[in-house]
Amino acid sequence: MRTQVAIIGGGPSGLLLGRLLHRRGINTVILERRSKAHVLGRIRAGVLERGLVALLTEAGVSERLMREGLRHDGTLLSFDDTMFRVDFVGATGHAVTVYGQTEVTRDLYDAREADGAPTLFEAEDVAIHDADSDTPFVTCTRGGETLRIECDFIAGCDGFHGVSRTTIPADRRREFEKVYPFGWLGILSETPPVNDELIYASSERGFALCSMRNANLSRYYLQCSLEERVEDWSDEAFWEELKRRMPADQAKRLVTGPSVEKSIAPLRSFVSEPMRWGRLFLCGDAAHIVPPTGAKGLNLAASDVHYLHEGLADHYAGRGMDGLDAYSARALSRVWKAERFSWWFTTLTHRFPGQTGFDRRMQEAEIDLLRTNAAAQAAMAENYVGLPY
Ligand code: APR
Ligand code: PHB
Repeated sequence: MRTQVAIIGGGPSGLLLGRLLHRRGINTVILERRSKAHVLGRIRAGVLERGLVALLTEAGVSERLMREGLRHDGTLLSFDDTMFRVDFVGATGHAVTVYGQTEVTRDLYDAREADGAPTLFEAEDVAIHDADSDTPFVTCTRGGETLRIECDFIAGCDGFHGVSRTTIPADRRREFEKVYPFGWLGILSETPPVNDELIYASSERGFALCSMRNANLSRYYLQCSLEERVEDWSDEAFWEELKRRMPADQAKRLVTGPSVEKSIAPLRSFVSEPMRWGRLFLCGDAAHIVPPTGAKGLNLAASDVHYLHEGLADHYAGRGMDGLDAYSARALSRVWKAERFSWWFTTLTHRFPGQTGFDRRMQEAEIDLLRTNAAAQAAMAENYVGLPY
C-alpha cells in the first residue's frame, strides 16, 4: 500500500489532520490501534477555543457543532464562598464553545467516511521505519496479516502512550515533565448543569469543577488524592463533597442523580522536544500533555494540526519545505504558552499536600487580584479563549 501521509492514531489529531489534508487533495491512511467504538467511547473535556471552531469550520465539520454547541461568554471562579465571573467576550471579544470531544471525534469520523478515506482499525504492532530518510514506511499487523505502507511523511497522532514519540532516538529528544500530587475524580450525570457557565471552585477542602455536555448532561470533577480509587466513592459521597467545595448558594441549586460514568485521572504537564524527526511529525498528546484545568488538550492538538497541514500543503503545492522545517518550533511556541497557563491555573486553584500558610496566602492574593483587576482578568481570558495560531 502507498499513501502520501501515513497518520498513526485515529483520535482528534489524526482525524482532523486527515480531513484537512483530504480537502487539499492529499491522500492519507489512518492506522488506529483500537476499534471505532472504543475510540468513540472515551469521555473527554469539551471546551473548544475559537481557533478550533474556525478549524473545524474550515474542515467542513462544524454543522452539528454550530447547532448543538453551547457558546460560553465567560466562566465563574469561586474561592470558598466568594464567586466572581471572568468575562471572556468583554475582555477579548471572543467566547468559547462547550461541545464534547467525543462529538468532535464522531463528526470527524463521519466526514472521513464520507471522504472515502481509509482508516485501518485494530492495527496492531504499528512500527515506523526509516523516518529519517526520504523513503519512510510504516508496518502493522491486522487480522494476522502484516501490512507495509510506503509514504512520503508520517504524522504521529497516537497520543501519550503511542509509538511515535519513542521512535525518535532518546539522544535526540528532550522531555520535560511535572506530575501533580493529586488526581481528578470525574462523574457524568444525566442532570441539568448547576449553572449556565462552568464553575472552577477552589476551597480549603480542594478543587472542584462544574461543567456540562448539554442541558441534561453534566460533568463534575473533584480533586482527589492519588491513593483513592473510584470504588471508594459512592455517588452520594461525591455529591456531598462537591456541595462542600462550592459556594453555598450554588450548592443549593445542584441537581444530583445517578452517575453514568465515574473515573479518576492523574494530572501531569509534559512536553517532548522536538516535534519532528526527519519525515515524522508529532501532533497532540503524542508530543505534549497538559493538566485538564485549562481545557487545553484538544485545543493544542488543533493548533499542531493547523501548522502541520499548512506545511504539508505548501510542500505538495511545490512551495518547498519551509513550513515543514518551521513546524516544530512554531508548534512548541504555542504549546509552551498553553503549558504555562494550564500549570498556572492548576497551581492557583488546587490544594497541594504540605502546602504552607504562605503558599495559601499567595493563592489568595492572586485570586484577589484576579477578582478585582481588569488586566489580570484579561490575561486569563486571553489564554482561556485561546492565543492566536
Ligand atoms: N498504533 C495506532 N494507534 C495508536 C497507537 C499505536 N501504537 N497508540 C495509540 N493509538 C491511538 C489511540 O487508540 C487513540 O485513538 O491513537 C489515538 C490517540 O488519540 P488521543 O490520545 O485522543 O490523542 P490526540 O488525538 O492527540 O487528541 C488529544 O485527546 O487525550 C485527549 O486530552 C487529550 O483532548 C486531548 C486530545
Ligand atoms: C469538561 O467538561 O470535561 C471540562 C471542562 C473544562 C475543563 C476541564 C474539563 O477545564
